[in-house]
Amino acid sequence: QTVYLKDYTPFGFVVERVELTFRLSPLATRVVSRIRFAPNPDASDRTFFLHGEDVALLWARIDGAEVTPDVTDKGLTCEVPDAPFTWEAEVEIAPARNTALEGLYMSPLAADVGDALPEGAMFCTQCEAEGFRKITYYPDRPDVMAPFDVRIESDLPVLLSNGNPGARGEGFAEWHDPWPKPAYLFALVAGELEARSDRFTTRSGRDVVLNLWVRPGDLNKTEWGLEALVKSMRWDEEVYGREYDLDVFNIVAVDDFNMGAMENKGLNIFNSSAVLASPETSTDANFERIEAIIAHEYFHNWTGNRITCRDWFQLCLKEGLTVFRDSQFTADMRSAPVKRISDVIDLRGRQFPEDQGPLAHPVRPESFQEINNFYTATVYEKGAEVIGMLKRLVGDEAYAKALDLYFERHDGEACTIEDWLRVFEDATGRDLSQFKRWYSQSGTPRLTLEESFADGTYTMTFRQHTPATPGQDDKAPQVLPIAVGLLSPNGDEVVPTTLLEMTEAEQSFTFEGLASQPVPSILRGFSAPVVLDRDGGPEERAFLLAHDTDPFCRWEAGRSLARASLMATVTNGAAPDTAYLDGLKRLVTDPSLDPAFRALMIGLPSQSEIAQALHEAGTTPDPDAIHAAQEGLSQTMAERWQDVLPDLAHQASVDAPYAPDAEQSGRRALGGAVLRLQTHLDGGAAARAQFADADNMTLSLSALGCLVRADAAEDALAAFEARWRGDRLVMDKWFGIQLMLCPPDKAVDRAEALTAHSSFDWTNPNRFRALMGGFTANHAGFHRADGAGYRFLAGWLARLDAKNPQTAARMATPFQTWRRYDDARQRHIRAALQDLAAQRDLSGDMAEMVGRMLG
Ligand code: ARG
Ligand code: ZN
Repeated sequence: QTVYLKDYTPFGFVVERVELTFRLSPLATRVVSRIRFAPNPDASDRTFFLHGEDVALLWARIDGAEVTPDVTDKGLTCEVPDAPFTWEAEVEIAPARNTALEGLYMSPLAADVGDALPEGAMFCTQCEAEGFRKITYYPDRPDVMAPFDVRIESDLPVLLSNGNPGARGEGFAEWHDPWPKPAYLFALVAGELEARSDRFTTRSGRDVVLNLWVRPGDLNKTEWGLEALVKSMRWDEEVYGREYDLDVFNIVAVDDFNMGAMENKGLNIFNSSAVLASPETSTDANFERIEAIIAHEYFHNWTGNRITCRDWFQLCLKEGLTVFRDSQFTADMRSAPVKRISDVIDLRGRQFPEDQGPLAHPVRPESFQEINNFYTATVYEKGAEVIGMLKRLVGDEAYAKALDLYFERHDGEACTIEDWLRVFEDATGRDLSQFKRWYSQSGTPRLTLEESFADGTYTMTFRQHTPATPGQDDKAPQVLPIAVGLLSPNGDEVVPTTLLEMTEAEQSFTFEGLASQPVPSILRGFSAPVVLDRDGGPEERAFLLAHDTDPFCRWEAGRSLARASLMATVTNGAAPDTAYLDGLKRLVTDPSLDPAFRALMIGLPSQSEIAQALHEAGTTPDPDAIHAAQEGLSQTMAERWQDVLPDLAHQASVDAPYAPDAEQSGRRALGGAVLRLQTHLDGGAAARAQFADADNMTLSLSALGCLVRADAAEDALAAFEARWRGDRLVMDKWFGIQLMLCPPDKAVDRAEALTAHSSFDWTNPNRFRALMGGFTANHAGFHRADGAGYRFLAGWLARLDAKNPQTAARMATPFQTWRRYDDARQRHIRAALQDLAAQRDLSGDMAEMVGRMLG
């Protein structure tokens, strides 16, 4: 059943107040609801339909009189008065059997425990997008907003819900959330939990209690998360003028969670991997990610909660904006250029394949079967890019003005992309009708450039073209903000960063008064999410690598030289490009450059990125050849840089006590890149030494990765496992890294063996993702020529689908690039997907994903 954006109609009733009482029990939780409805003056259809799935209705009353609604497995309908009325109902649900982790569930999963509460178990919820309907009957749609009062009855010591705390007594707790909210922001947590606490006083003087709740053993991993929360609260006041609006802010860590985290009003729930950190168990990358996710969920309080979405087609309204906000935050906390380059790597690694394959969809989709399948890199990350472009086009001041107007005009409302764009139009006087195409047109635009130079005038003629995507054959030109700078042949910047606003399919821009033909630095800061098809030749790239003032373009120059070298090796056996390696060597040994930036410069394009580039160039990618080419380039780099590696390692060393800040992390990132090169030369001696001495997880894991890549890690893997057996998050790393980095020909066997490991609890999403995600990231391993990798993944997806459709469907995405590969591989993938599709009782989530991928 496909839902369409164009079919939107408002609900026939408004909800004035919601009162819920929970009597918690693993197999028979009772939920009593009392909901005040009134006819919605803005709606014409008065059908009283309440969503409800997997809930057993015990009784229902309207204004105190028993009623008998018509109940299906999707919800109920009932005759109701043509005036305000009170709906009351009681339902029974079984959280311990809820393996889909949507609605009210238990962690750890405890289906076989009977009605007694298992030791250490907690109740928790995930309602976005459509999980509330698994808790009780309700109009479970984001445009229905109401204040909630909640009473929880349970003997568990910690009982939490949204809003401010109310009465608390033996076996119960009450919560009051005064801010009207949609049901997807509802949350409840109950368990034996402990908190690390702090306080925050808002700019206008509200004193807020902050708690980070965890299972007792995890308290030593809570300091960083709480610090990140304080930083986020301060930043949102300073940069966006947004203050927090309740007396308490609770965060809870849970081990079983389908996504990263959830912004429930006043009660954020986090995957423990997205909040718990300690130097011994977490890498620098973990710390940075946690800081960003804490910020992201906190920022949702305004962009998502106070102003929410009218319907799920508008998901990017809150997600694109909030991702954009959290990336601004990270840029402010750390290095802006490093954050930008990392975001581009991520966008190209995850969003471009989506936008250029069978799963392509607009930032604002126009139809879906299962909304959970649309929490994608396109909605989130491309959605954030669209906001970045908007900001660049209107300027920082106008952006701030528009955001102020957005908060003022729409506070308390459920909005659309039209509302969002109108705010910018009203604040700036700009016509954004063409810009709006970024929300409706899928696919990655491709941009080419032709140049001419005569009499001091330099002309750039750009052409843009967006290839067809599923359901969209013809594409119209997009508004492209193209930031360019011009360099003179001796390396001086003669035209500083200038924004060209391209709106036509083909458009020329001129620069006058130049002494000689300049070298263009194009798409500075990656000013638009497009593919720039430009082969300025290796000399131009080397020149930009040496002279560009824009860090992104400088990095990009190195990246495209590496890409070209790898492609030449794969297609005609060319040796690694030593001119590139020598140019890069000068740069990475320059002590005036940020070590984090230098580490990014040393990084090579991923094998998947090379596969895509070859495919676009008309060559069928051979995964083994790509792997070999990457190893070869890395080996040659190590050999040619041999003389500087010791000094680089020295520059990368950290003397101070461990801190996960940008400065130290950058050094360790550079150190990791150097160790990787050293391992090519010493067979792993340096890595083994680092592994033995490491007193933090960043150093330990980077050494382990080097050893795995060198196929010399058996002892280290055993030692690591022996040390960390009891730590779920660290064991996830252990499962993942050995599959991601092991020699491709061993990946399938190793993955199969690991699924038989006693710690492979495949119903835990983090563990499943660690193993399968590590395996599929091993490009040549997953794409093994005989199709064993495809069958392995598909088989496990079928198994998980029966328990947890959402995570299973999400983990099917590695198949999306299948049309890049040769006929034999395509046949294997198609067969694996068809087998999966033929599975009995396949979920709607998985059916949609497989159907779209097969086309
Ligand atoms: N709103 C959450 C976030 O981005 C993601 C929740 C997604 N949940 C889901 N079931 N799809 O912060
Ligand atoms: Zn979000």
